[in-house]
Amino acid sequence: MCGIVGYIGEKQAAPILLDGLAKLEYRGYDSAGLAVYKDGAISVQKAVGKLVNLVNKTDGGASLDGTLGIGHTRWATHGKPNETNAHPHTGSRFSLVHNGIIENEAKLRRKYLKDTEFVSETDTEVIVRLLDKFTEGGEDVDVAIMHLIDVLEGSYALAIIDSLDGDRMYAVKNKSPLLIGKGEGFNMIGSDAMAMIAHTEWFYEIHDKEFAIVSRDGVEIFTSYSQKIDREPYKAELDLSDVSKGTYPFFTIKEIEEQPLVIRRVLKEYQDETGELYIPEEILKDLRECDKIYIIACGTSYHAGIVGKYFFENISDKPADSYVASEFVYNTPKLTEKPFFIFISQSGETADSRAVLVKIKKMGYKALTITNVKGSTLSREANHTLLLYAGPEIAVASTKAYTAQVAVLAILAAAVENKIGINLKYELAVVANTMEGLCSDSELYSDLAREYLQNTRNCFYIGRGIDYYVCLEAALKLKEISYIQTEGFAAGELKHGTIALIEEGTPVIAIITQNNIDLNTRSNIDEVNARGAKSLIISMRSVSSHGDQIVVGDVHEMLAPLVSVVPAQYLAYYASYQRGYDVDKPRNLAKSVTVE
Ligand code: F6R
Repeated sequence: MCGIVGYIGEKQAAPILLDGLAKLEYRGYDSAGLAVYKDGAISVQKAVGKLVNLVNKTDGGASLDGTLGIGHTRWATHGKPNETNAHPHTGSRFSLVHNGIIENEAKLRRKYLKDTEFVSETDTEVIVRLLDKFTEGGEDVDVAIMHLIDVLEGSYALAIIDSLDGDRMYAVKNKSPLLIGKGEGFNMIGSDAMAMIAHTEWFYEIHDKEFAIVSRDGVEIFTSYSQKIDREPYKAELDLSDVSKGTYPFFTIKEIEEQPLVIRRVLKEYQDETGELYIPEEILKDLRECDKIYIIACGTSYHAGIVGKYFFENISDKPADSYVASEFVYNTPKLTEKPFFIFISQSGETADSRAVLVKIKKMGYKALTITNVKGSTLSREANHTLLLYAGPEIAVASTKAYTAQVAVLAILAAAVENKIGINLKYELAVVANTMEGLCSDSELYSDLAREYLQNTRNCFYIGRGIDYYVCLEAALKLKEISYIQTEGFAAGELKHGTIALIEEGTPVIAIITQNNIDLNTRSNIDEVNARGAKSLIISMRSVSSHGDQIVVGDVHEMLAPLVSVVPAQYLAYYASYQRGYDVDKPRNLAKSVTVE
C-alpha cells in the first residue's frame, strides 16, 4: 500500500526520496509525488502510474532543488488515482504525505473547514487544511500537531514539512507504520525500513499518537500531550542485499528459490542450546490451557492458517479452526469458553487482522502473532510473537512467507503436544533438501506453464484434504500474478456443480500427496479428462503414477504442503512471466494491506 519517505540533511533530497520510493514500490501503488523545501517555498511534483514517470518528470530529482523533502507512493482509497489526488497534499503553509484512512473526515470538514475549498477527493487534504487552520492564529506547529492528534480518528502515518521552516520535518503516527531513520548529519522518515536502509541501519520507533520533530542533527519524540520521550534507536536486522534482486529478473523467483534456506533458518532459530526444537513456555502454556485455537489471517496467510488448523488437530490433537479476518470481525462465530487466538501475517500490518485483534483483546482474550516483521503492529499488540525469519518478502505475491508460516505452525503444534511422535527437526531438514531438488527443475515448470497455461482464460486446482488446502494457495498464486481466473477446489466437490465449467482444453491441475485419498483424486481427474480437460498432476513420489507431470520427492505426509506448493509457485511465476507481466507487482494489489 502507500509508502512514505522523508529526508532532511545536506544532500539534494529529491534523488534520495525517489530512491526510497523505489524501495517501497513492492508495496503496490498507482501514483507518486514529491514535495521539496527551498528558500521559504515548497515545490511539488506528482505523476500517475509507475515511479519512473515521476523520475522522468523531475530529471531524476535534479529539477527539485533542496535538502529537505517528503515523498509518497499512493494506492488509491479515497478518489481516483490521478495527480490531484496523489500526495503530497499542500495547503497554504504545509505539505504532507499520509498513509491510512481518516474515519471522521466528514465530521472534521463540517466542524472546522466549512468554508474551505478542497481541490482533491482525498481524506488527506482534510489533514493539511486542519494544520493550516490550527496554526492560523500563530500557534506553534507542535501545538497544532497535538491538536491534530486529538481530533483525527482512524489510521495515519504522516510526514509533514512547513514552508516557514527549512530546518525540520514532522512525523506523526496512529495505527499505520512509521519509523525514523537516524543518520549522521541527516535524518529520515519512512513507512518501512527498506525506504531508508541504503542510508542508515539505525531506527527509532514511533508509537501510536506520538509525534517527532526531525532535524538535520537530531530527533525528538513526544507524546500527544507534549511529554518528551527518551527512546533509544535500534539496529535493523536487514541487509541491503536482502532487498535487491541480485541476478534474478524478479523478486518472485528469487523468493521462491530462497525457500530451502528459509526452512533451514526457521529450524535454526527455533532450536534451544541443546539443539532441540523450542517454543517459549509462556506461549505453550496459553495454547495448552485453551479449549480451542482460533487462527485469524487473510489471503495466503489464511491458507497457511488452514494447514495450521490441520497440524493442531492432527499433531497436537487440539481443536482448531482458521478464519478469514475480514469475515470474523463482523460475523464472529460463537466462541468456546477458553479460546486462544493466533494471528498469521507476513507484514504484521494487515488492517483486517488487526481489527480482529482489537476486538478479541477488548473481550479479554489472549493472542499470539506469527509474523515476518519484528515490531510490526500485530506483533506489538499481541501477547506473544513468533517470527518467520523468512527475510524481507518484496514481491507482492507471498511465497517464502507461506512456507515459513507452515513450518513455524508445524513446530508450534508439535511443541504443544506431539501425539504422533513426528521428528520435526529431521523431517523439516528433509523438506529443505526436497525443496532444493524442486528448485533445480525450473525448466520443466517453464515448459509446463507454456504448454498448459499460456493461452488459457481459466484453470482449476483440485485436491483432497491437506492437498486441497494447498490448491487454494496454488490457485491464489496463479490468479494474482497471471490474471488467469483460477479456482482451488475440493476434488470430490467438483462433480456437484463446478464440473459444468470444464470444456475442451481447460487446464485442471491436481495435487496428490496423501496416501489415503490419492485414488479418489485420480478418479476425479478421470472425470474431468472425460469432459475434455487438459490435466496436469503434481504428486509425491510415494503416491505417484506413471505419466504424472511433476513428481516431488517424498517428505513426511503431514509436511507435504511445504513441497507441493513449490511447483505451483513456479507455474504461477512462469505463466505471468511468459505473458509479459510485471510478476513482482501485479495490478491492483498491494503488499501490505493497511486498510479494511
Ligand atoms: C497473496 C498475498 C496476500 C497476503 C494477505 C495477507 O500472495 O500476499 O494474500 O497473504 O494480504 O497479508 P499479511 O500476511 O501481510 O497479513
